Amino acid sequence: MNCYRKITEDLYWVGGNDRRLALFENMFPIPKGVSYNSYLLTDEKTVLFDAADRAIADVFFANIAAVLNGRPLDYLVVNHLEPDHGALIKELYDRYPDMKIVGNVKTFMFMNQFHEGIDPNRLVEVKEGQSFSTGRHEFKFVMAPMVHWPEAMMTFDATEGILFSADAFGSFGSLDGNIFNDEIDFDREWLPEARRYYTNIVGKYGMQVQSVLRKASSLDINMICPLHGPVWRTDLGYIIDKYMHWSKYEPEEKGAVIAYASMYGNTESCANRLAVMLADAGVKNIKVYDVSHTHVSTLVAETFRYSHLVVAAPTYNNNIYHIMHAFLHDLKALDVQNRTVGIIGNGTWAPASPRLMTEMVQQLKNIRLLEPTVVIKSSPKDAQVEQLEALKDAIVADMNA
Ligand code: FEO
Repeated sequence: MNCYRKITEDLYWVGGNDRRLALFENMFPIPKGVSYNSYLLTDEKTVLFDAADRAIADVFFANIAAVLNGRPLDYLVVNHLEPDHGALIKELYDRYPDMKIVGNVKTFMFMNQFHEGIDPNRLVEVKEGQSFSTGRHEFKFVMAPMVHWPEAMMTFDATEGILFSADAFGSFGSLDGNIFNDEIDFDREWLPEARRYYTNIVGKYGMQVQSVLRKASSLDINMICPLHGPVWRTDLGYIIDKYMHWSKYEPEEKGAVIAYASMYGNTESCANRLAVMLADAGVKNIKVYDVSHTHVSTLVAETFRYSHLVVAAPTYNNNIYHIMHAFLHDLKALDVQNRTVGIIGNGTWAPASPRLMTEMVQQLKNIRLLEPTVVIKSSPKDAQVEQLEALKDAIVADMNA
């Protein structure tokens, strides 16, 4: 059965939701599901903006058929080829023999790697700034390389001021009938998933996001149609401001994330004690996470959100407890920057984790490491309480600086 929504007089959302998938990219938990957005314009020419994931094939093809209502499909614009959007390209191509595929040189390079048997005569290659008319609507193409794939681009409908933004401005979470940002409480119900989506999937490419945001600032945008999550038709400044913070690796808020690993509760007790010390000192937004019970994508998102991070972990195999090691590795892989960090390490006979965590944190850009590093020998004693007090004082002083 079809299930689409009208966006403007001649533009329709024809995507779908997957609430069954446990792990997006087989890696990131999506307890609230995910939407695969696709948009169909019924101008003098009919144009589909991006295909979809195979999981929603039935509703996707039903939606297209219903909106076309017997008309042919003239164009598929491929803003992003990753299979959560590109998986059904070949099936569209076979079902709609008049359809031409619009993309850039890299789109077609990757398309031919994923799909075989596409006739080059049915491809329309476009470049940065190139115009494209479908009758009433005039489009321009904006290349967005490495946001977050090399072929990514955006298409701007200059007639209506609509930006088809590919993955940018997207979010995890299914669209439950309400597809517009002004139909939902985005800040309360969607922002954490939008942050987790951006920081883990696009987070490494802050410079490239900045570059495309600069290009977008010259466009008169009224609406943003991303490939996941809600369509933005009001308050665009809100989500653009979030993207500015995330892409510049600037914290959104003052606050302290205390991420700890603990085998027998001794390192955990230091994390908890530091949290109450900070609270007693008036610090708000303290978040304590056990890394063994929190998906690393949440730890990453919270690190992007707050100004201060404390990592606490025991030594294991003369190295960092490996779940903490994986978290720190992820922070480096995502190029996290501009944070103030405290370290708590534990070890019974050779406490290597304080030094090794320090070395990993020092590999991040523009990081301020706080003194003292708290070193625990098996379980915390009075000396560690004093060190925690000193670390708390350093965090508070830094926050108030
Ligand atoms: Fe939603 Fe990069 O694919």
